[in-house]
Amino acid sequence: TKDKNSIKVGFSQCISGDAWRDAMEYTMKLEASLNPNVELTVFNANRDVNKQIKQIESMIEKDLDVIIISPFDSKSLTSVLDKAFSKGIPVILLDRKVNSTSYTAYIGTDNIEVGQLAGKYLASLSEGKGVVLEVRGNPNTSPGLERSIGFHKVLHQFPAIKVISLVSKNDQLPQAEFNKIIEQNPNINYVFAYNDIIAYQVWQAAKKKEFENKIKIIGVDGLNGPSGGVQLVKDKIITATVLYPTGGAEAIKLALRICNKEIVPKHNELNTVLIDSINADILSNQFDRITVQQSNIESQLNVIKGQEERYITLYNLIKLLSFFLVII
Ligand code: FRU
Repeated sequence: TKDKNSIKVGFSQCISGDAWRDAMEYTMKLEASLNPNVELTVFNANRDVNKQIKQIESMIEKDLDVIIISPFDSKSLTSVLDKAFSKGIPVILLDRKVNSTSYTAYIGTDNIEVGQLAGKYLASLSEGKGVVLEVRGNPNTSPGLERSIGFHKVLHQFPAIKVISLVSKNDQLPQAEFNKIIEQNPNINYVFAYNDIIAYQVWQAAKKKEFENKIKIIGVDGLNGPSGGVQLVKDKIITATVLYPTGGAEAIKLALRICNKEIVPKHNELNTVLIDSINADILSNQFDRITVQQSNIESQLNVIKGQEERYITLYNLIKLLSFFLVII
C-alpha cells in the first residue's frame, strides 16, 4: 500500500544481462528494501538509446521523486535530461556521464584513474618496454573514452612501450580484427581490455591459438563471484583487474539524501584499486563477507515481511471477530 510518505524512485538501466549490471541492480534493490518507504522501479533499455529516452520520459510523466539513470551513451539524453530538470525532478547519473549539466548528481568511479592504474601497473610489469594491445570500449561512453585516455596518459611517458589499439563493440571482442593484429604483431605480450568480459574473451581467443601463456591480460570491473574478474585473477587467466564498483547501493543512499532535501555534491566518487595475485584473496574474502551480510539482511527482511503478513492476517481476523461479536 502507498502512503504519502512513500518515495518513488525509478531506475533506467542501459544494459541488461551481464553480471556487473545484475550486481548493480541487486545491491540497489537490497538497499531500497532497507527503507520501507522506498518504491523502486527498474526499467531496462537493453542498449537502445531511444528506449532509454522513452523510459525516462514516462518516469517524468509519472512525477517520480528521483530518477536514477545509467546512461547508454554520452550525448543522446541531453534533451530528456533538460525536461526532467525543468520539471524539478532530481536526476542521479550512475556509472556513465553525459555531455550536459542538467542533472542533480553523478556517482561513479573516475575512469581516467582506472586507465591510469592499469597503465602504471603495466609499465612496472614490463619494466617500461614491450608491445601492448589495448582493446577499447565504445568511445561514445564515458568509461570507454576515459579509461583509454587515462591509460595513454601514463604510457606516453614510456616510449619503449608500443601500444596497438582496437575498439570493441557491445562488450564483444572483434575476433577477426583481433586475429589479424595478433598475426601481424606476434610480439604482443600485454593486453589491456576495457572490461573483464573482454579480458576473458581475449584469453579464450589466445588459448585457441595456443599463445595464452605468452600474454599478460589486465581487465576492469573486479567483480566478486564465480565468473567475476577477481576469480579470473585467482585462476591466473588474467594478471590483474581494476576494481570498478557498481555503485547500486550508494545511488539509492544518495537518492534518499536528495529526498530529505539535503544538499549533495554534484560529483560523488567511488574508490578503485588494482587487484592482482597479491591482494585477490584478501579482497575476495572481504567481498564474500559482504555477500554473506547481504544475504543475512535479505533473510531478516523476509522474516520481518512474514511476521508483518501474519500480524495483518491476525489483525483482520480480530477485526472480523469483534464485528460479529458486536452483531451478536
Ligand atoms: C557492464 C559494463 C562494465 C563496465 C561498465 C561501464 O555493462 O560494460 O563492464 O565497467 O559497464 O559502464
